Formats: sequence, C-alpha cells, structure tokens
Amino acid sequence: MGEQGEQRAEDTRSAGTPSEGTQSHDPDFPQRFVEFMRTGWRDTSLSVSPRPEAPQHAKRRAAVSAVFPGETLVIPSGRAKVRANDTEYPFRPGSDHVWLTGEHDPDAVLVMRAGGDDTLYIRPRSPRDTDEFFRDRMYGELWIGRRHTLAEKSAELGIATADLATLPAVLDDLAPGRTRVLRGYDPAVDTAVRPAGDGMRDAELAWTLSELRLVKDEWEIAQLQDAIDATVRGFEDVARVLPADRTVSERLLEGVFGLRARHDGNDVGYSSIVGAGPHGAILHWIHNNGRTAPGELLLMDMGVENRNFYTADVTRTVPVNGRFTPLQRQVYDIVHRSQQAGMDVIKPGVKFADIHQTCMRVLAEGLADLGVLPVSVDEAMSKESTLYRRWTLHGFGHMLGLDVHDCAHARSENYRKGSVQEGYVLTVEPGLYFQPEDELVPAELRGIGIRIEDDVLVTASGARNLSAGLPRTADEVEAWLAAQREAGPRLPE
Ligand code: GLY
Ligand code: MN
Repeated sequence: MGEQGEQRAEDTRSAGTPSEGTQSHDPDFPQRFVEFMRTGWRDTSLSVSPRPEAPQHAKRRAAVSAVFPGETLVIPSGRAKVRANDTEYPFRPGSDHVWLTGEHDPDAVLVMRAGGDDTLYIRPRSPRDTDEFFRDRMYGELWIGRRHTLAEKSAELGIATADLATLPAVLDDLAPGRTRVLRGYDPAVDTAVRPAGDGMRDAELAWTLSELRLVKDEWEIAQLQDAIDATVRGFEDVARVLPADRTVSERLLEGVFGLRARHDGNDVGYSSIVGAGPHGAILHWIHNNGRTAPGELLLMDMGVENRNFYTADVTRTVPVNGRFTPLQRQVYDIVHRSQQAGMDVIKPGVKFADIHQTCMRVLAEGLADLGVLPVSVDEAMSKESTLYRRWTLHGFGHMLGLDVHDCAHARSENYRKGSVQEGYVLTVEPGLYFQPEDELVPAELRGIGIRIEDDVLVTASGARNLSAGLPRTADEVEAWLAAQREAGPRLPE
C-alpha cells in the first residue's frame, strides 16, 4: 500500500490519518506523469437503487427531531481509526448514524434542522483533474473503488446530500444553545460546535437516540434474524471442524467462525470468545490462544454482524468429546434451567430486574445443590449479600441490535430499572463459572465455565427465541454435535 498525496495534506479533516514524511515506500510523482494521469478518463455512472428501508430512516429522523423542536441536531458517522502507523481498521459507522440514515461510508455528518430539513454531508467523488483519485489511499477511487456522487447517495438513501467541504461554514453558523451534537465520533465536529453549558444537552440527545432504538421495527427484526441465521451457520461450521478425540487451537475455531461472518455478513459483531476448558470461566476470553482437550468443555460466544450492521450474540458450551460427564451435565442443566426460567417470564411489562432475579435464583439453587453456597439460597439472594455472584459474575443479558450491548445510553429508569416492551430484542445468557484457583469449590468443579446465550424478541404475549436454530438442552447439544460431525466440514457458498 502507498501513501496519500498532496490533496490529503491540504485536507483539514485528515486528523488521525498518517502524516507527511511516511512516504518511504512510494515512488516519486514526476509532473509529466501527474499531468498524464489527469487526462483521458471516461465518466461512469453508478447504478443505484433507492433502499427499501429509506422511509423507515426518515420516520426515525422525524421522531428524534420531534423530541427537540426548533433545534439543530448533528450526528456524525465517525472517522477511520488508526490501527498502526498508516493503516486503519476497516471502517464501521456509528450505530446512531446508521439507524438514522443507512449510510455506510466514513466521515458523513447528518445535520437535522427544524422543519424536517435533514441533510447528509458527505465527501463527494474526486474529480479527475486533481491528484486525489490516484494518490489518496483513503479516498482515491484507484485505491478504494468508485465512490458515490452526491446525487447517487441522495437517490440511494432518500435524503438530501451536500458536500462535506461546506460543513465547517454550516457548523460555524449554528447557535450553541439551539444545537445538540452526538459527541465522540468526529473530532472536527466536536471542536467546531462547543458544548453549551455542562454538556447535558448533548447527553440528552445521546440517551434519546438510545431510548428510541429500544423498540425494533419489522425491518430491524428481519436484520437481526438474518445475523442470527448466519451465526447458526457459523456455529455449525465450527462444530464440523471440532474433533472429538484430538486437540485443535481456539484460534482455528475463531477463524472458521470469522470466515462465515465475513462471507455472510459484514464481520463478527464483537471479538469472538472461544474458551476451551478453564478459559470458559473467563468472561471475555478473546486471546483464544489455547487448545481444546477431549473430556473438557468448550465455550463459544460468537455473533455475526450482518451487512446492515445488526449483530447476533449467541453462546453455546459443548463437550469436546461429544458427551457431557455427569458433573458437566449437572452444571449445564442448572444453567439451562436458569435460562429457560428467564425466557419463560419475559413478556411486555416485566421488569429487567425480575428477569435477572428469576435467572439468578435458579443458579443460586443449583449452587446450593452442588454444595457450593456457604449460606442459604435466600441469604445468598439478599441485597446485602449476593454471595452467589462469585460464580455467576454477570447479569442475565442485555439489549441487542446495531450494537451488541445496544441502547447503552438509555437512562437507567428506562432500561436496567425499567421493563421490557413488545419489539425489544435482548439476550438471555446466564452462566456458572468455577475458576481453577477457587479453593471454596470441590476440585472437580474447578475450571468449568458454562454459559448458554440466546437472542429473544419480546412479542405481544411473551417471547420468541430468534436463535432457536441452535440446540440448548444437554441432549440436544450432544445430538447436534454428532450430526454436524457426521455431515463433515464445509465452506460458505
Ligand atoms: N457476548 C459478549 C457480551 O455480551 O459481553
Ligand atoms: Mn451477550
């Protein structure tokens, strides 16, 4: 890969991109060559079709604007993030921006003015009489492919577009007391519009967006199902290459799932957790540098993010050799009972806290049956104690959508301390974790980590498990693993 040319050096929005002086491996650009490159190009048009979901985006924008009448709202997509030196991570747009526009490209900024005057500021195509198209490795079309014109983008997303170069003047003119910015995505925007007062006005915008995203519309539910279906295929792919009688690396399994995620979706929605044996007891084990061992369990927490950035979040724990030992099965059954109990209470109006307590009580009872709890179940469950949490470690689940931990800025009274409503999608993911060094549990439990996680849609009368394509009971898991192994390895098609 090369380095950007003089066009980028002039660009005031290039913060976070490589500086001049790192062009060590690029050839020179003699003037004759530069002039030659600017000539002789035929124009092409891009065939764009309006996105069918565009009317939904317009409705969402109207809903946000209605909360802040007479104000201007600025919501950036975000910028490429440096991975190392002059290479960036693949770009993934900010979730609120995607939810309001459907835009996938970096640097875009949505400005919503009073009266439904919504404009998406984007970087237009570079003309061929400048050097950008062949010298700019971040935006040049000979580096990254054909970009949209303003008109093409507008036709595709169903929103007015304007040149990003005109944005600074627009931001300069905004009245601070009548403007709110979604901060933390675009340093240039954050600097151009200083927060008014204590920043509370901007925080209100962030939590409003999160709260409006709590209920998923039909199109979003279809997107989540799409991500979950790809995730089911990914778990199957992994089961098909997981040997019963010899060891393989956690990285191999992570890679097989990652192939499915890239092939069928955009990517994984979060770093895959592939925990063999005692690694299963480490909640966010993403080093994935261990190996499976026949006789041990394997915990896999993995989700495909689909092409529109909605993500699944699913966990399965399987016995590597194909059969749970009696003790593994006993612990597994406790976790399954807890998850089922949680799913069974979910319906509109039920409090998040009650779902949590339902799952945790079953786990605490199971811990008592295992002889692990040092106090009674009731005492362990009391607010002053919660001793059972030494082995349960986390909550029952979380909202799911464009983000794996969706709607994270919602106010606590409307989320953690509130209740679920029809159209919410959430995970139910209790687990039990016995650390290898835990001297308060019998030796045979040490190093066992089990979680079962599914993605559940709250319906008018209850809950629908969107990830029912994967097995959940211990018997089903054994039969599924055997069937996948019987079918043999496969590549995505
Ligand atoms: N799946 C990872 C998490 O929920 O934290
Ligand atoms: Mn989760």
